[in-house]
Amino acid sequence: MLKDDPPSTPVATAFIIFGVTGDLTHRKLIPALYELCRAKRLPEPLYVIGFARREWDSKVMAEQLIPGVSEFAHLKPVDNAVLEALCANMRYIKSSFEDEQGYHQLKDLLDELGIANRLYYLAAPPEDYSDIIRQIGAVHLEKSSSGWTRIVIEKPYGRDLASARDLDEEVHKVFDESQVYRIDHYLGKETVQNILVFRFANGIFEPLWNRRNVDHIYITVAESVGVGTRAGYYERSGVIRDMFQNHMLQLLALTAMEAPVAFNADAVRDEKVKIFKSLRPMKGEAALQHTFRAQYVAGTIDGKLVPGYKDEPGVSSDSLTETFLAARLFIDNWRWAGVPFYLRSGKRLPERMTDISIHFKQVPLPLFGWRNSAGEAPNILTINIQPNEGITLTFGAKAPGPINQISPVEMQFDYVKSFGGEPPEAYERLLLDCLIGDATLFTRTDEVQAAWSFTTNILEGWKASPVHNLPIYEAGTWGPPDAMVFMGAGNDPGLHNPG
Ligand code: BG6
Repeated sequence: MLKDDPPSTPVATAFIIFGVTGDLTHRKLIPALYELCRAKRLPEPLYVIGFARREWDSKVMAEQLIPGVSEFAHLKPVDNAVLEALCANMRYIKSSFEDEQGYHQLKDLLDELGIANRLYYLAAPPEDYSDIIRQIGAVHLEKSSSGWTRIVIEKPYGRDLASARDLDEEVHKVFDESQVYRIDHYLGKETVQNILVFRFANGIFEPLWNRRNVDHIYITVAESVGVGTRAGYYERSGVIRDMFQNHMLQLLALTAMEAPVAFNADAVRDEKVKIFKSLRPMKGEAALQHTFRAQYVAGTIDGKLVPGYKDEPGVSSDSLTETFLAARLFIDNWRWAGVPFYLRSGKRLPERMTDISIHFKQVPLPLFGWRNSAGEAPNILTINIQPNEGITLTFGAKAPGPINQISPVEMQFDYVKSFGGEPPEAYERLLLDCLIGDATLFTRTDEVQAAWSFTTNILEGWKASPVHNLPIYEAGTWGPPDAMVFMGAGNDPGLHNPG
C-alpha cells in the first residue's frame, strides 16, 4: 500500500536502530530514510529511535546524523525541510545492549509515542545480536498488540554453519521467521534485481540459458579499496566470509535459478535454496583444488601508492587472511551440469567493478576460414552490476572492407542512458521493503544455512591443509597471474585480464 498510497488513518511506526552511533547508520540507513521521506514513501508518523551506549540525547543524535545525509544522499542538494521533519521525530535511548533497563525505557517510549508498528534494526556489532534479541524477548517487545513487529539483521549472519544455526535458534526463540529480514545489500541493487527481470520478463534469452548453450560463467566482484580501518573484522573474515558466502552466492543463485512459480518472497527464495543445495560440495582436497586465495602487497591504484595488506593498521604481520578469492563451482542439476561457474572477488584490484559474464558455446563448425579477431567464442553476455550499469552482448560481425575478417561488436543497454540517472542506493529499496513487509529481497533461514553449509566445507578443507603463506598480488592488479590460469581465462576477452 505504501508504495502507492499513504495509509488512510495514520499509524505510528518506529524504526529502532540498535547501534545507531555506527558507520552503517550514518552512511546508509539515515540517508536512505531521508530519500524515502523525500519521496513520500515512509509511513507517517515515523519515529527513528536510536539505541546505543554513547552519551547522546535525541538532539545530539540528530546533529550527528545530519552530515551523513549531506554527504551520502543520492539526490543533491539536500531538502532541508525534509531533513528537519525526519530529525524532529528522532529519539535516543542511552543503554548498553545487555542492560534490561534500556529495553524498559524503550517500551515506555513506544507506549508514550503510541507506536503500533515496530521495526528493529540490528546495526550493532554481531557479537551483540544475541543480547539484543534476548532482551527484546525478555521485555516482551517482540509483538505489538496493534500492529506488526519485524527485525532486520545485518551481515555477518554467523561465521560458519554452526554459528549461523546458533544465531537462528536465538532469533527463533523470540521471533517468528516471518518477522525476520536478513539483509544482503546486493539484493537491493537495481541491477541485481534486474537479473530476474532480464531472464524472466524476456522470451529470447531463457531458452539459451543452460548447459547446451553456455560454456562457462564468470562472476566478478572487484574492489579497489583496501581493508581501511576494518582490519579487526576483516582479519577474521577474509573474502570468503565477507563477500563469497553472501553477495557472490546470491549473484550466483539469481543467475542460475529456475523461474519461480510466482514473484513473491517464498517462491523466489525456494528457487534460490535449490541452487545452493545443488552446488557440488567442495570437501577436503576439493576445497583446495577449486579455490585460489591470495593477498595484496603494496602497489599503485589510480596513480597513488597504497600499502600492502600486512601493513594496514591492525593486520598481523603473519596474516594468512585472503584478500582475493577465485573459486570454481559446479551446479549439479539438469540445467547446469558440467558448466563451470567461476566466482572471483578481491580488494585492491584496479577498479571497483561487479559483473556477471555468460560465455556461450562456439559455433559447431568454423564455417569461415577468415581471420577472426572476435576469438573463437565471441558470444558473451555481460551484466554490468556496477558501475556503468547495463548489459552488453558481444558477437562477431563481418568487418567492412575487401578482406574477409570477423570483428567483435556490441549491443548495449546502458542504465543511465535509458533511465536518465544513476540507480538509487540499495538501502532505499531494502528499507522500504521491510517497512511494507515484502521479504523477497531478504534471505530466509534455509537459504542462509544452505549457503553456509557449502561455504563451511571450503573453510574446513582449508583448515585441514593449512598454508604457511598465500600467493601475493600487487595492489592495482587483477590478482596473481596464476589466478587467471586457475580460472581457465587464457586470452578470454570477457575476463579482465592483467595482461
Ligand atoms: C560489504 C563488505 O558487505 O560489501 C565490504 O563487508 C565491501 O567489505 C562491500 O566493501 C561492497 O559493497 P558495494 O555495494 O560497495 O559493492
